[in-house]
Amino acid sequence: MSAQKRLPPWHEKFRLRDGRELLIRPIRQEDAAPIRGAFPLLEPHEIRQRFLTTMAELPAEQAARLCSPDPRSEFALVAAEPLPPGEALVGAVARARVPNGARHAECAILVSRFIAGQGVGRHLMRRLVKWARGRNLQQLHGDVLDDNQPMLQLVKSLGFRVLPSHDTPGLARVVLDLETAGDKAGDPDPQPAA
Ligand SMILES: CC(C)(COP(=O)(O)OP(=O)(O)OC[C@H]1O[C@@H](n2cnc3c(N)ncnc32)[C@H](O)[C@@H]1OP(=O)(O)O)[C@@H](O)C(=O)NCCC(=O)NCCS
Repeated sequence: MSAQKRLPPWHEKFRLRDGRELLIRPIRQEDAAPIRGAFPLLEPHEIRQRFLTTMAELPAEQAARLCSPDPRSEFALVAAEPLPPGEALVGAVARARVPNGARHAECAILVSRFIAGQGVGRHLMRRLVKWARGRNLQQLHGDVLDDNQPMLQLVKSLGFRVLPSHDTPGLARVVLDLETAGDKAGDPDPQPAA
């Protein structure tokens, strides 16, 4: 089967400002191995900003869970090489999850520094917002280290509020009220066809 036919049914092309082309698509089970394989390339601060803890490797069970979202309550996208899942290097992962029966979703994102600063984070966050709006949720929120300026700037530009965490010093809770937020976090603009 051709590589094109082995791609997930929904995917979109994303051209980085440096000209490289990525695919934005739902995460797949097959992504677990490339994600685990590339984990040691992440800087400790990138891991800490995403997972709020330090980790030398991504445990196999955690990778498998990340790559098998429950479609009833979770949504996860990757920005990856334009190759079939399992072969493609994954440069970014964004996920949202609705806790049991809640009207809000929590979200997290990691864009590797090899492709950072080229619009991937903004695009993926807007896709998460679109998913959350499509489920009629009231709120999308995340926990961000309060010195993580790139993420704080990104979410503020999308209309999130930044609140101090109630119980964890050094952490901020970023919150987007989906019913009242304007369209700063609206549908990402489609990229012109190459
Ligand atoms: C935060 C993060 C997701 C940004 O991803 P990115 O793809 O580099 O972001 P984009 O290129 O889409 O930039 C979007 C906005 O983010 C902000 N931003 C990005 N990098 C920045 C930096 N180094 N300094 C300040 N603001 C920055 C800017 O507001 C930028 O908007 P602009 O391009 O109009 O100036 C990425 O740096 C990352 O994954 N960091 C590590 C993990 C993490 O912090 N996760 C968040 C907690 S779950």
